[in-house]
Amino acid sequence: MSDSRARPYYDPYDYAIDANPHPIWKRLRDEAPLYHNEKLNFYALSRFDDVMAACLDTERFSSAYGTVLELMTDEPGESPMMIWRDPPEHTRLRKLVSRAFSPRRIGELEPQIRKICRSYLDPMQASDGFDYIEEFGAKLPVMVISSLLGVPEEDHDQIRVWTDQLLHREPGELHGSRRHEEISQELWGYFARYVADRRLHPTDDMMSTLIDSEIEMPDGSMRKLDDTELLSFIGLLSGAGNETVARFLGWAATALAQFPDERAKLVAEPEGIPNGVEEILRYEAPSPVQARRMTRDVEIHGQTLPEGARLLLLTASAGRDHREYPEPDRLDVARKIDRHVSLGYGLHFCLGASLARLEARVALEETLARFPEWEVDWEATEMVHTSTVRGYAKVPIRF
Ligand code: HEM
Repeated sequence: MSDSRARPYYDPYDYAIDANPHPIWKRLRDEAPLYHNEKLNFYALSRFDDVMAACLDTERFSSAYGTVLELMTDEPGESPMMIWRDPPEHTRLRKLVSRAFSPRRIGELEPQIRKICRSYLDPMQASDGFDYIEEFGAKLPVMVISSLLGVPEEDHDQIRVWTDQLLHREPGELHGSRRHEEISQELWGYFARYVADRRLHPTDDMMSTLIDSEIEMPDGSMRKLDDTELLSFIGLLSGAGNETVARFLGWAATALAQFPDERAKLVAEPEGIPNGVEEILRYEAPSPVQARRMTRDVEIHGQTLPEGARLLLLTASAGRDHREYPEPDRLDVARKIDRHVSLGYGLHFCLGASLARLEARVALEETLARFPEWEVDWEATEMVHTSTVRGYAKVPIRF
């Protein structure tokens, strides 16, 4: 039995805490706004203002040592993934891929996304229920990213299965296990063949644009991306874009079932769905924790956050901070949300934010138009356990 007077203890790997970390995150915000876990050797910031300020300060709060706690290095790495780089390398990479990720290209995906949603949801109308994640939420984003990249449709499901297996962690299992290595080899082998094929047969998809693009080097010269850089960008998009959207849809299905009046508002006025999406992102951030390493001492809440320390930014806790949001534990789809950190903030702000918002909006429009009410079979829900996302693997619903 936990003693409420004891100091709060937060372990990001503890399944029991992960099932509902909100009570412990609230205690951290109120009692230990700069939290130090000596055993696991990390600090954590949990208040909205602190998380946002850290996101904005890339000089002192570095991403270059990795942003997943157990994968962090002691020296700054040279990851080809921009999410693990600081300026100026981050700026160069981001500029390059932003071109391939243009608003036009994303906007053009809307009819395709709607078609994918309909193809999954239409057949369900003849039933009295289905698993919203297994049969819809987890499939949609893989299809979308694979379409964006130009991967052949018949391979989309296999890519989703590999991606799921790569992110799943058994209790006590860390990344880098033999199982992870084998799956990762299969996935990389597939994409290596795909990049080689695109070099020979360019089309007008994102991969062909990336193959064609040039990156500016520190001395001002220009060069094209090599295969390792192209492959790691695909890895980043698949990793960052599939699991997050799937988890978002799980939170949408469960939160709207828990707040049926809010769901009814979106059914009655679908134009409120974009704001509802922001509110669901605030309420349960699918990517709840981002790690940083301190490059200098920082004084905060009367304590020193020392140079070299590993720091967790508790993004999902920031979304429940009453200092920023009145009645934070209530889902209010019409809430005026000027800002949140669930898609990051500052230089590393989610590159896929417009795609994520588009997928979320279209998925909810198509869901609510067919199924204005549903109940969740809570006993049969299952959570996924990874270091990068938090949410449901299974959400059986009945209507
Ligand atoms: C609801 C869905 C999503 C959520 C909650 C989410 C969340 C986030 C967060 C919190 C960050 C900041 C990480 C940090 O500061 O260390 C981020 C960055 C990123 N996201 Fe997303 N994301 C989502 C969807 C997507 C999609 C669909 C894609 C791509 C297809 C994507 C690609 C990226 C990339 C490439 C970055 C790194 C940006 C950089 O370092 O400049 N995300 N995302």
